[in-house]
Amino acid sequence: MTNGIRIAPSVLSADLARLTDQVAQVLEAGADWLHVDVMDGRFVPNITFGASMIETLRKLTDKPIDVHLMVVEPEHYIESFAGAGASVFTLHPEATIHVQRQLDTVKKLGMMAGLALNPATPLAHAEEVVRDLDLLLIMTVNPGFGGQNYLPGSSEKIQRARALLTAHRAQCFLEVDGGISRQTIAAAHQAGADTFVAGNAIFASANPGREVQELRRRCMVTV
Ligand code: DX5
Ligand code: ZN
Repeated sequence: MTNGIRIAPSVLSADLARLTDQVAQVLEAGADWLHVDVMDGRFVPNITFGASMIETLRKLTDKPIDVHLMVVEPEHYIESFAGAGASVFTLHPEATIHVQRQLDTVKKLGMMAGLALNPATPLAHAEEVVRDLDLLLIMTVNPGFGGQNYLPGSSEKIQRARALLTAHRAQCFLEVDGGISRQTIAAAHQAGADTFVAGNAIFASANPGREVQELRRRCMVTV
């Protein structure tokens, strides 16, 4: 961790034929976490990875593996993902009926518990469970695909999320995900985010390692 900022490259945008090499490049450049997007074709239109991807990444690094579940009924995956080596397990409140129970189970199995809010999902969902959260993820795009644009209005929501965490003295990461790039990261950081997922910006660049460093630098100059 550098200056309390975490950069979490999303392997969704990596070239899977060169996964080992690309993961090594971003880790050597100082990436703090690896972000894994799990999609089931129901909560979002796309289908991606399961526990085997987490197992694969766990063989490559001891750093935290940040798993973002865009699936209905994420409770079915808590145990297997913990066993596979996940560090953070983040679910969406629309995807499960008993949100607080699932967050509790995530922590009992040794992972950090995260709640992800879509752009149209009110912060009130987080307020009701704020004492149970290790991480609050503000989606800055509608989830489902990499390479989308940071939505206008995101920075204002991040500010309100930061105010909520401060008011409750919550020991909680404030993460943003979607459209984070050289152009947008400073605004998200200034608004109060401390943990930054980036897929396309890192892995579609000619030099993923350099991009990790550049994203971090853009935060530092706004401190
Ligand atoms: C979007 C995913 C993101 C995605 C971000 O549904 O949750 O984690 O990988 O990709 P970029 O950074 O390309 O917007
Ligand atoms: Zn994600």
